[in-house]
Amino acid sequence: MSRTYVHGYREREHERLHDQAGTLVEILHGDTNYAPGSQVLEAGCGVGAQTMTLARRSPGAFFTSVDISPDSLAAAKAASEAAGLLNVRFEQADVFNLPFAEESFDHIFICFLLEHLPSPVAALAMLIRLLKTGGTVTAIEGDHGSTYFHPDSDPAHQAIKCQIELQRLGGGNALIGRQLYPLMVEAGLHPVRVSPRTVYVDGSRPDLIDGFTRKTFTAMIQGVREPAIKAGLIEPEAFDAGIRGLERTAEPDGVFCYTFFKGVGTKANAPASAHG
Ligand SMILES: C[S@@+](CC[C@H](N)C(=O)[O-])C[C@H]1O[C@@H](n2cnc3c(N)ncnc32)[C@H](O)[C@@H]1O
Repeated sequence: MSRTYVHGYREREHERLHDQAGTLVEILHGDTNYAPGSQVLEAGCGVGAQTMTLARRSPGAFFTSVDISPDSLAAAKAASEAAGLLNVRFEQADVFNLPFAEESFDHIFICFLLEHLPSPVAALAMLIRLLKTGGTVTAIEGDHGSTYFHPDSDPAHQAIKCQIELQRLGGGNALIGRQLYPLMVEAGLHPVRVSPRTVYVDGSRPDLIDGFTRKTFTAMIQGVREPAIKAGLIEPEAFDAGIRGLERTAEPDGVFCYTFFKGVGTKANAPASAHG
């Protein structure tokens, strides 16, 4: 895949992914545990933001974490070494051309990867071939259409729409969370269970105001300012008003809501029926 990753690979984006992962650990990973001895493939590990949590929470499992970006992998390796993790190895690879034998993993984990791929079902199907029968695929994706906040702000919604549109133009889908169930079923997993994970932030949660509303969501939207303006999607003043609208929701009387979707599907013995 040579498509441009919409969020870019800059230092600030690396920080943002770590902030996001740290803030969301319980919401996203509270029920992610792999048995000792399991071989787990993490596809699209990025800077290792989820890898740290996975490897710490399942210390007896062994993780093979791959990404297409050498820069992100270098950052992931450095973070893993600094944390002293011994149960992770990193490898550069494209999810559509992975250098592993069929049925060589017990489980597969992906997070915020499918939203960047033009053919998410094909990617899932490739990954499922590497999975042993009875193994699971866990996929976590966001959905920017799930964003609502107080005070409401039209410019903020316009700025968010720029991000959605840029991702669409790059071949991705920032609204993919709501499609996780049908995509995983279409790829052949059975059964599939999807659960929405809502991040709700109000003035009583200064940790989430800082870690999620400001440093994760608003920082992500802020990151597309230049490309959105360059693509003619919005005027600079309108975009900046949108960012002010998002920042306003981080005041003590503001409220911010976003929903992630987590799906777990099993590679069944027999091919699953399309509507299993
Ligand atoms: C939003 S980041 C998510 C990283 C990590 N999973 C996390 O949750 O922090 C998406 C990652 O997918 C990687 N990626 C995109 N297309 C890929 C492909 N075809 N094969 C492998 N990795 C890919 C990007 O390089 C990027 O690191």
